[in-house]
Amino acid sequence: MIFDLTEEQLAVKEAARDFAQRVLKPGVIERDTHMTYPKDEVRQMAELGFLGMMASPEYGGGGMDTLSYVLAMEEISKVDSSCSVIMSVNNSLVCWGLETYGNAEQKQKYLPKLTTGEWIGAFCLSEPEAGSDATSQRTTAVDMGDYYLLNGTKNWITNGGTSKVHLVMAQTHPEKGHHGINALIVETDWPGVSVGKKEDKLGIRGSDTHTIMYTDVKVPKANRIGDDGFGFKFAMKTLAGGRIGIAAQALGIAGGAYELAVAYSKERTAFGKPISQHQAIAFKLADMATEIEAAKLMVYRAAWMKDQGMDYASASAMAKLYASEVAMKHTVEAVQIHGGYGFVKEYHVERLMRDAKITQIYEGTSEIQRIVISRGILNGELYLPVLGGAVESH
Ligand code: CAA
Repeated sequence: MIFDLTEEQLAVKEAARDFAQRVLKPGVIERDTHMTYPKDEVRQMAELGFLGMMASPEYGGGGMDTLSYVLAMEEISKVDSSCSVIMSVNNSLVCWGLETYGNAEQKQKYLPKLTTGEWIGAFCLSEPEAGSDATSQRTTAVDMGDYYLLNGTKNWITNGGTSKVHLVMAQTHPEKGHHGINALIVETDWPGVSVGKKEDKLGIRGSDTHTIMYTDVKVPKANRIGDDGFGFKFAMKTLAGGRIGIAAQALGIAGGAYELAVAYSKERTAFGKPISQHQAIAFKLADMATEIEAAKLMVYRAAWMKDQGMDYASASAMAKLYASEVAMKHTVEAVQIHGGYGFVKEYHVERLMRDAKITQIYEGTSEIQRIVISRGILNGELYLPVLGGAVESH
């Protein structure tokens, strides 16, 4: 078993770490406080190739593997998860979804703009009454011959205020249930697309999360992804990859909090010695390091499985479930280690704690991940052995 990263992967990790520490860190508290969209920082991420990492070079992408994307997500999330969610949605939901399931014309038309950050994309599945229960789509795409007439409301849309392209799930044949849903590529300057209020959030406050309304939007048939009725499968398959990105984000948030906690505990003295020398703190660091390493193995393995062409839906759900729980638990511990300083913005850990919460919610809550994992077990689809070959059932 080889755990080493390749030279290319190490270079990506180093570039992302340098960018996060040098460019993102100085303004991150300010952006969080004022809910400022990181426009200039997103432009720089695009220049560094972080917005289309896995997409093919023929469409302007980096042609990298999923693990490289995970490494970049992790380093950027150690500092600024508002930037990493913008990156995650554009890379793994929009670019990957389009490249994997779009047709040649769709890819040629949209991907070069999205991979280079000229346009930012959004993934529009959630609705006011269809969050976890994603099959209950109320947005409709009525078949009008050579176009669909799109009507409905989507909410919690990451990149909602800045995106130029939406991948929208909508119901065309209600009598067919989820088999009647279509995925449509919608340009935001088309008549009938409007952006609602920007959410004032607990965390990832620099990212722009909006409600989107579609009123009699004419979407050409050429903009449907896949066959008629493929939209729900498209959403599920794309989200399985997206969850690896969010798992990497959670891993980064936990790692960022851990790095700050280690540094602080070595500097801060109490009762005549650095607090890291007190067992109460040293044991917290030991637990943080152990669980973050465990999460890392799960996240990297899910990425590796995706790159090997294996079925990774359960592995990505497990990685997201575990990494997000670790992020939440250990950002709270990092605040505790910092004591009173942890409770103020200047020390960064309170923001990481607030940012951690969303990783247990978006792209499927922890409860939804448990549904995916348990169905994987019961359907016999789950890749059972953690390491090594097949395990006989008794
Ligand atoms: N790959 C392919 N097909 C899949 C699949 C996968 N990973 N998962 C499910 N499906 C298929 C099933 O096979 C089934 O198809 P058939 O009927 O043809 O067999 C179909 O999808 C419906 O599946 P279920 O019967 O299991 O549907 P369900 O209603 O019981 O629940 C669910 C499915 C897993 C709970 C799903 O609704 C779900 O994932 N919900 C969470 C939605 C979510 O993650 N939303 C996040 C919004 S996006 C976001 O947050 C982005 C952002 O801005 C940051």
